Amino acid sequence: MDVYEAVESRRSVRGFTDEPVPQEVLERVMAAAAWSPSGANLQPWQIYVVTGTPLKELKTLAVERVAHGDPWDEREFEMYPPVLKSPYGERRSAFGKERYSSLGIAREDWEARQRAAIANWDCFGAPAALFCYIDRELGRPQWADLGMYLQTVMLLLRAEGLHSCPQMAWSQVRKTVADIVSPPTELVLFCGMSIGYEDTTVSYPRTGRAPLYETVAYVTD
Ligand SMILES: Cc1cc2nc3c(=O)[nH]c(=O)nc-3n(C[C@H](O)[C@H](O)[C@H](O)COP(=O)(O)O)c2cc1C
Repeated sequence: MDVYEAVESRRSVRGFTDEPVPQEVLERVMAAAAWSPSGANLQPWQIYVVTGTPLKELKTLAVERVAHGDPWDEREFEMYPPVLKSPYGERRSAFGKERYSSLGIAREDWEARQRAAIANWDCFGAPAALFCYIDRELGRPQWADLGMYLQTVMLLLRAEGLHSCPQMAWSQVRKTVADIVSPPTELVLFCGMSIGYEDTTVSYPRTGRAPLYETVAYVTD
């Protein structure tokens, strides 16, 4: 698979089969992803790859927690600014509309939206997941390094015939994740990522993108 194909075929898959992901495949991907760039080569990512019984346990605990309506863990970072200025607010609304209408859920049906959201903590059925942490003393440039690293992982997963879904939703139940992976206290959970083989019986609309003129400018002769 060439890089364009990997980039174009990567999307956030929200329906996986239970086919296990071989451990050697996960190890090959993680070994290759270590070559991601980072400012001054700090390599600020701290990754826990979770499969098997520990992942089953985590999913059960997290889904039960959310289904019971337990409060979220107090936030260690804001996922989004409280008020999203234009054009970000419009883009988020368009995404929500597209996602929930594809599930046949009306925008004002809060309960149905919550039920759909719960699938996050079941990893959308995926048999593998990773959890990406960063030291709380590191700053914005190092958080940006995490993004490059995670995209590298997602593209390598495509090369292995696998799909993924990055999920900040896991940060809302970070203490449950910590109960399973036992990270040192200096680490902050940025996000989880579900990993597995796509359930091709589930259909998804491709999430669109803003027109390029909104996000890219060429300054040239
Ligand atoms: C850092 C990050 C966190 C995300 N968190 C979630 C999440 O918690 N749940 C979810 O279903 N999708 C999540 N997504 C997926 C985005 O919704 C998705 O990337 C975006 O809508 C574009 O769609 P695409 O990935 O299918 O191209 C996240 C993506 C990123 C990069």
